Amino acid sequence: METLLLNRNQTDTAAAIIQRGGLVAVPTETVYGLAADALNGKAVAKIFRAKGRPMDNPLIVHISEIAQISGLVSDFPEKAQKLADAFWPGPLTIILPKSDRIPDEVSAGLDTVAIRLPMNECARELIAKSAPLAAPSANLSGSPSPTTAEHVKKDMYGKIDAILDGGDCEVGVESTVITLVTEVPRILRPGGITAEQIIGVIGETKIDDAVLNPLKDGQTAASPGMKYKHYSPKANVVLLKGNSDQFIRYVNRQKGNPVVLCYEEEMQRIHIDYFSVGKENDYSTQAHRLFALLRDADEKAYDTIYAHCPKTDGISLAVYNRIIRAAGFEVTELEG
Ligand code: TXA
Ligand code: MG
Repeated sequence: METLLLNRNQTDTAAAIIQRGGLVAVPTETVYGLAADALNGKAVAKIFRAKGRPMDNPLIVHISEIAQISGLVSDFPEKAQKLADAFWPGPLTIILPKSDRIPDEVSAGLDTVAIRLPMNECARELIAKSAPLAAPSANLSGSPSPTTAEHVKKDMYGKIDAILDGGDCEVGVESTVITLVTEVPRILRPGGITAEQIIGVIGETKIDDAVLNPLKDGQTAASPGMKYKHYSPKANVVLLKGNSDQFIRYVNRQKGNPVVLCYEEEMQRIHIDYFSVGKENDYSTQAHRLFALLRDADEKAYDTIYAHCPKTDGISLAVYNRIIRAAGFEVTELEG
């Protein structure tokens, strides 16, 4: 298949492709999405084939204005309204009971649907011109999510109808996924909107076990996506816990072909190859760069990536959640 490369002003062309059941990669403020008409089950099925995604992993439905939600869910509780008022448009996905119009391909057989109203204007323009869009991240299943059109091209060229280039994604990690179908609201995936922000708006909110820990044998995932190996570059990711001195001493001793993801403050003291993730306390920059750096490390064929084990407050919880999966949940404690 030939993949059209469209610029930000070609949303008419992209909308026509969506309306005839095709696949278009679209920029959002989090990561690029691989979109199809959410109400066309056949079109949505093509997304799973292009990504190599297991069919039991449901998709997020993206809308361009809040009025569209009434046809998509069977209930819109007060807490959903509060979250929508506070964080939409933006990087928050809310899981609600689904309406009968949602095809099984989108909900993967569950009786719920995930809804998000993105901030990115190019994405909203495309939705307004075509339809609500079912869209997972536009990477091959398992690899780091794409934050530039170039990343999408690498994974999807020849497999989809078009890529709409809207430049770099600002946030860099995916949306926060919260379910409101449990008794107490529960965050299934940390992301662009922090747990602290959510608690500030709706009060008591749990963080699902699967955010921080691997699933135990036989345990089922509240969010099916959490059970798959994810976000993995080809290189081996090694997470190190310790202070800056310990970290620098440890990485400087490494031989072979490694690269270090370090804080900007540490760069001058690191004597092997490194990428800066940003300043130690600048979580937003760390989130913005994470996936691109994992991809860069593969481009340059490093075999090992050494990184700090991220903090778990603010948007750093999202960075932790992604990189701990890439590291197979292993953390090396540094001593001495
Ligand atoms: O920022 C984002 O959320 C990006 C952009 C494109 O919007 N999308 C994205 O989609 O990250 P995806 O498919 O890569 O991740 C969606 C996550 C998966 O872990 C999936 O299992 C979960 O949301 N999910 C979707 N629908 C669900 C549902 N009804 N119940 C529980 N989890 C659901
Ligand atoms: Mg994804």
